[in-house]
Amino acid sequence: MSKKKKLKLKYIYRRALLLIILVLIFAGSYIYISGADTRSLKKIGYTTDEISFVINQNKVNKKVLKRYPHITNLNDLVHNKDYNKVNLSKYLDIWSKDKDINTIVVIVNNDIKYPYSEKLVTIVNDKYFILDNLDRYMSYDIEDTSKIVTNVNCNLDKEAYTDEVKTDVSDGYLMIVNKYYKLAEDYHYGELVTVDKKYSVNNNDKLEKNTYEAFKKLVDAAEKENLHIRSKSAYRSYNTQKNLYDNYKKTNGLEWAEKWSAHPGNSEHQTGLALDVCSKDTYTIQKFSSTKEFLWMKDNSYKYGFILRYPEGKEYITGYNYEAWHYRYVGKEVAKYIHDNNITFEEYWAYFVNK
Ligand code: DAL
Ligand code: ZN
Repeated sequence: MSKKKKLKLKYIYRRALLLIILVLIFAGSYIYISGADTRSLKKIGYTTDEISFVINQNKVNKKVLKRYPHITNLNDLVHNKDYNKVNLSKYLDIWSKDKDINTIVVIVNNDIKYPYSEKLVTIVNDKYFILDNLDRYMSYDIEDTSKIVTNVNCNLDKEAYTDEVKTDVSDGYLMIVNKYYKLAEDYHYGELVTVDKKYSVNNNDKLEKNTYEAFKKLVDAAEKENLHIRSKSAYRSYNTQKNLYDNYKKTNGLEWAEKWSAHPGNSEHQTGLALDVCSKDTYTIQKFSSTKEFLWMKDNSYKYGFILRYPEGKEYITGYNYEAWHYRYVGKEVAKYIHDNNITFEEYWAYFVNK
């Protein structure tokens, strides 16, 4: 090889080496600079796991984190079902070590105007929390804050029979009729059919067609266990309910009547979807709670689509005394949910049906 060629080769090698060195310096600096956020986050106290989660989210979030001290429950925050990475800096603006992450997420995501408070934490974390009711929850004053959501959802912040709303009958089998929701005078749901004497202690009880079909199945199933459940009072017209209520009031006084009877237009009996039952043997509804038939109804009526409508212990919600005999048809699926979760129809309707 000539001297000239050797020199040229040497020159090329040097150039290549220089290029490699430059690339290494450049890559090294890039890695160093881009790792700066990570290093500073580690210094603040973030774990590698937390940092890589934020990096995977996006770089802006990583920079946002640097503005705050170590967020001990960052994992809870980023894994909250409603976490929205766009809102990270807003979450962190109200974040502090002892605050409830879920409440923070709800406040930010929904632009809630109320500041973080223990009352808000209880409300927001209630299983049946409804955002539209927030103003009513916040102005409802009650010592036991765990009852705010239930009570407001069930209208207990309003006066019964005032500000009455028309029942939305398009809810069909899930329509609500109570001291806050009223039916038109001539209304009943669907087709009313006469209850066969085999299923009733009366001659001319009527029920809505599918409710009757479900009731027959229920009675037949109980009969197989030698239990005899019968209809004692089924569909009642507006006028029948009016006479009943007026009579109760005359005989037992207003207070008594209010606890046992609906005003005309406010009784589920008018829908054709509800009935009072008795045992064929004891006959009266008042004795029903001490019968074997009642024990069977408690455990089985939901399988046929019926719920115990005015349960014991829930009088403050339903507005009526405990009625072991009054059942309402809502369909199997809803009846099972209400039975399994031990809630009233009011609670169910507010959360799942109300539009
Ligand atoms: N006893 C129930 C509440 C009614 O009158 O409809
Ligand atoms: Zn009844």
